[in-house]
Amino acid sequence: MPDSTPSRILDELAAILGPRGLLTEPADIAPHLSDWRALYRGAAFAVARPASTEEVAAVVRLCAAAGVPITPQGGNTSMVGGATPDESGRHLVLSLARVNRIRALDPLDMTMTAEAGVVLKAAQDAAAEAGCLFPLSLGAEGSATIGGVLSTNAGGNTTVRYGNARELMLGLEAVLPDGSIWNGLRRLRKDNTGYALRHLLVGAEGTLGIVTAAVLRLFPRARDTALAFCAVADEDAALALFRRFRDRDESAVRAFEYMSGTGVDFCTSHIEGVTLPLEARADHYVLVDLASPRPDAQLREMAESVLFEAMQAEEVTDAAIAANEAQAQKIWRIREEHPEAQKREGASVKNDVSVPVSKVPEMIRRCSAALRELIPGSRPVPFGHIGDGNIHMNLEQPEGMDPAAFLARSHDIMDCVNAVVRDLGGSFSAEHGIGRLKTDMMEDWRGGAELAAMRAIKAALDPQGLMNPGKVLP
Ligand code: FAD
Ligand code: MLT
Ligand code: ZN
Repeated sequence: MPDSTPSRILDELAAILGPRGLLTEPADIAPHLSDWRALYRGAAFAVARPASTEEVAAVVRLCAAAGVPITPQGGNTSMVGGATPDESGRHLVLSLARVNRIRALDPLDMTMTAEAGVVLKAAQDAAAEAGCLFPLSLGAEGSATIGGVLSTNAGGNTTVRYGNARELMLGLEAVLPDGSIWNGLRRLRKDNTGYALRHLLVGAEGTLGIVTAAVLRLFPRARDTALAFCAVADEDAALALFRRFRDRDESAVRAFEYMSGTGVDFCTSHIEGVTLPLEARADHYVLVDLASPRPDAQLREMAESVLFEAMQAEEVTDAAIAANEAQAQKIWRIREEHPEAQKREGASVKNDVSVPVSKVPEMIRRCSAALRELIPGSRPVPFGHIGDGNIHMNLEQPEGMDPAAFLARSHDIMDCVNAVVRDLGGSFSAEHGIGRLKTDMMEDWRGGAELAAMRAIKAALDPQGLMNPGKVLP
């Protein structure tokens, strides 16, 4: 019988990892024990910080032999508590932060081989230095890691053009729950050789093994861009505008994001340097980001022409087109600061949901009305990736309400949104994953054959249940 007393393995961990690779002091461990949203506070007897795939494998083998549960962690930006250990103190947090080399970049293959701990922004920068584009982009890109974005199959702002993290991955290297290293770092566009193990690990949120490196797809860099910030008449007008741009040149629409007047008000009042680039406030806004590898794409002219048509159709009521890159980045901040601005305004409940694109206006309207009825004075803040049908149907507490009393209603709020989403054929988790927050919804939404198959896969790969226990599967 393996001895499951975690501290028993501390000496062996220290021998594998060396002094820089193992944290045991409470003050050093503390930042790894809670999540960005401060929903959870866990415990761990140590944080392992291996510096190579081999060290990850040695740690996992040791934990497998000793029966010690592992919580994998990348940038710790999970929105669903996925990277936070439980309160038992039995877990080892395994941080991939030091497994962070870019191993190769090939502009002809258009691939980059990056280790799990490479920060997303660093991967974008490395691609740009080589004259290429790694398009995955999200508000947490300064902290989120390649291992994290793949393990959550992150979406973000450019899914509408380039797909989710899964679509940006060709090959994977991982340490499986028994500690074996699987090298699937193939740079191939075509590779039909049995079950696609790499796709099982993507989106598994660390429950099937540890991602240690990946082959990522690169794209030609943009040589012409245009960015517009528009006030639109309502949610239908936002979608009508999406269609106009898509019909004109689908490949140029790099991002198409919706924001409510409430969310933009929060940003302009709480975040320094964020201002409205239009003359008057509106109830609905859209950010359109266009990009093309063709230097002569004339995207600014295209944007002006489409916006002119949309204004004549009374879909767009006002619009600003960025004059330069600095202005474009300033406008992007209005969108990217939404999570931070919501935090500063008070307590909020997030609902990361998706519906078929055509159903977004109905979803926003029905959810907003139902939420206002559920908690009078509460403030719906729908925003996000409308071009993917993925809206963050978030709810801000009523002004003056006790935040704890508001958060005590979290489940009612999520149920209220999910009832509408289900009715419209949507999903209760679009891009953030299940983590710890949504495990209790899995039975209801994915029960029966689907959940049984997931459990069978988990049992086959991780029979001891040591990989991120308490996450994803109820
Ligand atoms: P972590 O938070 O550390 O971990 C996430 C999950 O993956 C956990 O279950 C963890 O155990 C597991 N994991 C991490 N690394 C590994 C690994 N190497 N091997 C196996 N399992 C691993 N998400 C979006 O999809 N779209 C957005 O637009 C978006 N915007 C955000 C904006 C802000 C301000 C913030 C704070 C978060 C946002 N997120 C968004 C959520 C979050 O950034 C993503 O889920 C991201 O993919 C997590 O990466 P990470 O490295 O921080 O992973
Ligand atoms: C974003 O797109 O900014 C995040 O995924 C959403 C959120 O904070 O709810
Ligand atoms: Zn998002």
